[in-house]
Amino acid sequence: MSKKILANDGISPSGIKALEEAGFEVITTTVAQEQLVDFINGNEVVALLVRSATQVRKELIDSCPGLKLIGRGGVGMDNIDVTYAKDKGIHVINTPASSSESVAELVFAHLFGGVRFLYDANRNMPLEGDKNFKALKKNYGKGTELRGKTLGVLGFGRIGQATAKIALGIGMKVIYHDPFLEQATLSLSFYDDRTLDFAFTSISKEELLQSADFITLHVPAQKDYVIGKKELEIVKNGVGLVNAARGGVIDEVALIAAIDKGKVAFAGLDVFESEPSPEIQILMHPKISLSPHIGAATGEAQDRIGTELAEQIKSLLH
Ligand SMILES: NC(=O)c1ccc[n+]([C@@H]2O[C@H](COP(=O)([O-])OP(=O)(O)OC[C@H]3O[C@@H](n4cnc5c(N)ncnc54)[C@H](O)[C@@H]3O)[C@@H](O)[C@H]2O)c1
Repeated sequence: MSKKILANDGISPSGIKALEEAGFEVITTTVAQEQLVDFINGNEVVALLVRSATQVRKELIDSCPGLKLIGRGGVGMDNIDVTYAKDKGIHVINTPASSSESVAELVFAHLFGGVRFLYDANRNMPLEGDKNFKALKKNYGKGTELRGKTLGVLGFGRIGQATAKIALGIGMKVIYHDPFLEQATLSLSFYDDRTLDFAFTSISKEELLQSADFITLHVPAQKDYVIGKKELEIVKNGVGLVNAARGGVIDEVALIAAIDKGKVAFAGLDVFESEPSPEIQILMHPKISLSPHIGAATGEAQDRIGTELAEQIKSLLH
């Protein structure tokens, strides 16, 4: 009998195919949290795959002795008691590399939209585009280009570097601050297989804040704000800020105050302090470009997540 895998928050068709070819049976039913234990035990599930919705806590781990592997399609494992599971001899895996390019492209969606006020034009064109075209044209008529400007990247890991590569590709200067990565070389690959290397050295956070025209955050969840009131006082006037990392790395109250003062020109947010119910002041703000935590939500990233999980499961459970 083939070993059963429950992909409770879904898995891409390519992931299912890879697992089925390796002889596993993949169940894609979404089982309600309170019925999970019975389902896993009743069906002799050996691997539980989740994204961010399903909670895999101590109680579930204790109640499912047949479980050999827990897999998170994506990066953050806040919904899994990782250490506890590992202590019990269960494999716990994730797919840290698969979504970097998708998150980086979303950052640029916010940046390109930000410098041309698209987030606000898209709110007002449906309401008054027919009657007030000329006034809207004037309102959104003072755009800027990204080319030639400086992008400051806070946190130069996988996503920070993927974002920096796009910036380099469109002619931006890149600076970064990362206390755990003194130097980095990025290799830019072009469609015709040519590559070009760029070398970087981390600069201090203060220097970055003072010299970047745009700042994007790519740090893991932290105890303290990475951008708070103090930091927003020293940024360049008219800076654009993007947070597609984790809610809580930017102080949203200080951010709104800085936007209202004109210190920050606009912000792009994919993640929120009070997710999944972001503050109304954030949602309604005319100078904030919004997306509902969709950084990794592309077909390509989900495909890579599926196949990356399948590769790891094949080698761990055979
Ligand atoms: N928006 C989305 O849908 C989405 C999707 C995937 C990941 N993420 C988030 O993106 C963030 C980055 O992910 P990653 O894969 O690049 O992680 P990573 O571990 O590859 O990189 C994080 C980098 O931040 C650095 N760092 C840590 N503390 C720092 C600090 N205080 N200041 C500056 N740098 C610091 C680390 O040294 C590391 O190089 C994470 O918070 C992750 O949860 C968001």
